[in-house]
Amino acid sequence: MKFFIDTANLDDIKEAQALGILDGVTTNPSLMNKEGIVGQANILDHYQKICKIVDGDVSAEVISTDFEGMVKEGETLAALNPQIVVKLPMIAAGIKACKYFTDKGIKTNVTLVFSAGQALLAAKAGATYVSPFLGRLDDVSTDGIHLISEIRLIYDNYSFETQILAASIRHTMHVVDCAKTGSDVMTGPLSSITGLLKHPLTDIGLAKFLADYKNGNQ
Ligand code: E4P
Repeated sequence: MKFFIDTANLDDIKEAQALGILDGVTTNPSLMNKEGIVGQANILDHYQKICKIVDGDVSAEVISTDFEGMVKEGETLAALNPQIVVKLPMIAAGIKACKYFTDKGIKTNVTLVFSAGQALLAAKAGATYVSPFLGRLDDVSTDGIHLISEIRLIYDNYSFETQILAASIRHTMHVVDCAKTGSDVMTGPLSSITGLLKHPLTDIGLAKFLADYKNGNQ
């Protein structure tokens, strides 16, 4: 399973990259706004900075909701760097734009996916990635992981090449459950990645090894 970090914070991206396990980055307009990145020139410049930190795919979301606007914005974003993946909302114009970019060989990520039917449409449009939002489903008492299993089954039935990018990850167990259910990619905050490092028995065991070494080598 590929690990993407879901943030526009450059320090968090650098920290995940330094671990050596980072495969890419996802962003959205809310995450850019959270970092105070506003105005088209600053936003485009920020994507360039992110692409310099990581080697893999960087999802950059359009804000247009009509086909022509999505095409114009997506082409500007894709021209920034070959790492850029054009992120499109799961609406009719987004699916149409996804097919347009697929035909042009430009990578896409269909976002705001909350049902298996939506994921089926994204695959039919040739999306590189589909982003089901686990956490937001769990927030409204609906099993987000079950949706991942449904999409996995459908994509495997027809050998769709669209990669399942499990998004809206809230914690480490989401990451583990995504791996168990066959997500191709997970994207989450830095804490969902670094949290995987933690186990008290590791800390206790390491302290004991170091103490025993010190006792034997005085
Ligand atoms: C997906 O690509 C989105 O950026 C993201 O995962 C949304 O997560 P949230 O529900 O924590 O905002």
